[in-house]
Amino acid sequence: MREIFDAIQKSAKRIKKAIDVKDFGYSESENSSGETQLQLDIKCDMIIEEEFSRIASINTIASEEKEEAMHFHADAPYFIAYDPLDGSSLIDVNLSVGTIFGIYKGGFGAENMVASCYIVYGPRVEIVFAENKVKLYLLQGDEFEYVKEIKLGEKGKLNAPGGTQQNWLPYHKELVDSFFKEGYRLRYSGGMVPDLHQILLKGGGLFSYPATSDKPEGKLRKLFEVFPFAYIYKKAGGEAIDGQNDLLELTCKHVHDTSPCFFGSKYEINRVKDVYANN
Ligand code: AHG
Repeated sequence: MREIFDAIQKSAKRIKKAIDVKDFGYSESENSSGETQLQLDIKCDMIIEEEFSRIASINTIASEEKEEAMHFHADAPYFIAYDPLDGSSLIDVNLSVGTIFGIYKGGFGAENMVASCYIVYGPRVEIVFAENKVKLYLLQGDEFEYVKEIKLGEKGKLNAPGGTQQNWLPYHKELVDSFFKEGYRLRYSGGMVPDLHQILLKGGGLFSYPATSDKPEGKLRKLFEVFPFAYIYKKAGGEAIDGQNDLLELTCKHVHDTSPCFFGSKYEINRVKDVYANN
């Protein structure tokens, strides 16, 4: 695991430089979700692939930017799914973006998750790595330094509701509104990494990306986005559900499967469960 964390740190520094240096524009290709790929998405994917290809303990990698998984060492234990540059459409407007990693042992699937991690590229570059504990690291000069352990409170103050409101189901809209009526404040940038990072570091709240009338299975991808953050939130003392079920109990048939998802502290997630159980 140490060498995987080292490769993630090296990738973070190289991706930060790629983001800073140049706007690469769009490529001619589409990714597996049918989105036009930014040259920068492809560059970040290549950086991570290159760093992971040097590690003997990695069996297979799957990237949000690649249709198929890529096999390295047949007898090695670790399978890593990653989103090289989540929220890359926010680069144009200079908002924070991130990289997400789900680290699985013996094969892809929530039941095999043994660690997860994300990098935030904002005014500062930070890494959050979760194994047994959730730890925050900050890039200082050329090295990442440990800052602190992250723990969620029982209840927070922030509400980050994702998806197109026009397509929300009526009871979901009522749920979101009820948090605002209770005094919660809106925090939503459109990048799940900075949005979930903010809730984690401010002690709690709710991030939701629900089933909508146009996307009944949600938008966010299980292996690259949903499971890694579910692991982090649960290890930090919070919860992560699809409305009713623990996200880490869901199965995954295809590497690009999606799921509705709710991440938060216990109070908010219990409210979601109550509403979704009755609808
Ligand atoms: P993309 O990588 O295509 O920019 O998508 C970003 C993801 C995720 O980071 C974010 O939470 C979500 O899409 C936002 O989607 P909506 O704009 O539909 O709320």
